[in-house]
Amino acid sequence: MPGTQKSSLRPSKIVNIEDLRRMAKRRLPRPVFDYLDGGAEAEITLRENCDAFREITFRPRGAVATGDCSLKTTVIGQEFSFPAILAPVGYSRMMHPGGEVDAARAAGKAGTGYTLSTISGHKLEDVKAASPGPVWYQLYLLGGRAASEGALDRARRAGFSALVITVDTPVAGLRERDPRNGMKELLGTSVLAKIPFGFTFLAHPGWLAAYIRDGGRPKLENIVVPGQGPMELVDVSAALAAATVTWADLKWIRQIWTGPIVVKGLLTGDDARRAIDEGAAAVVVSNHGGRQLDSVSATIRALPEVVAAVNGQIDVLMDGGIRRGSDIVKALCLGARAVLVGRAYAYGLAAAGEAGVTRALEILRTDVERTVRLLGCPGLRQLDRSYLNIPRVWDV
Ligand code: GLV
Repeated sequence: MPGTQKSSLRPSKIVNIEDLRRMAKRRLPRPVFDYLDGGAEAEITLRENCDAFREITFRPRGAVATGDCSLKTTVIGQEFSFPAILAPVGYSRMMHPGGEVDAARAAGKAGTGYTLSTISGHKLEDVKAASPGPVWYQLYLLGGRAASEGALDRARRAGFSALVITVDTPVAGLRERDPRNGMKELLGTSVLAKIPFGFTFLAHPGWLAAYIRDGGRPKLENIVVPGQGPMELVDVSAALAAATVTWADLKWIRQIWTGPIVVKGLLTGDDARRAIDEGAAAVVVSNHGGRQLDSVSATIRALPEVVAAVNGQIDVLMDGGIRRGSDIVKALCLGARAVLVGRAYAYGLAAAGEAGVTRALEILRTDVERTVRLLGCPGLRQLDRSYLNIPRVWDV
């Protein structure tokens, strides 16, 4: 792939997710990197998601011999080789031409799942075909109900095994880096409007050559308004403003999608109970990676309230701030069944396509196994709060 040497993915060079982030930053033009890396407003929640994990420390048990420990888990009855599933990431094809197909393939080869965002550049059928593992479809109501019905029908026929409904986007959060970088102008059709922002692309010839070879600005292949073909790429604030899903929409969605539904983007016990009442098979405690409402709690802090409210009725997942396997282990200790990872794999995708996602997953998987063994814990099922010190001021 242009701009990426295979050797630079050697485990001696790419030891952790931050190494992939640095590689992604070098390869991507700034507007694309900042779209991936940035959060809303003052980025308080973006930082808190990571910082809160650091405030939790471990309480290991000594002198325990732990053999190979199985990391297999089931979520909504589906099997995963380890408890991390790839989260929906919009505009993945802008990060790398292989985009959603490469990410799904890497996830499938690693035995885990992939979630395809509505804001995607590859056809959902190709994404599903790339992965031998479970693939979920994340729905925004972009393009209206008829376009959504079409997508859900295609997703069902292609074999997607769950639908993820994101409920934290009544409007788009203000991601301040995007307007500064001219994201809207760059994704628009006016060449003149792009000029003041376009020079950064010339400084990233590897990315630019791959983008041009891929045909340039991708269309949103999975939003097909009947009679109009795939929707043109729009910037994220326009996309999310037209994407709201309400509880009333969920009732309608349940009539046309009979498979499991995962409700993503809630932070309170009340909302989790509402999701159960509306028929959710799982919930994801999520603040959209700090990209929507700023100053909400870090998700690891919100998790215990949701776990308590759900009381074992359905699976609880979480995302936000996960950069190490030890973060995943902390989430499992607090009752998450598994986590979704977004930036952690998307940095790998942006850095080196499928190889980068594979490396990200390898890093996280080996981290989880090492952490569980260092904790002196026999396996994932035995992880609980007794392995953690939680700051008293958290009041959980
Ligand atoms: C899309 O969902 C985004 O957060 O950019």
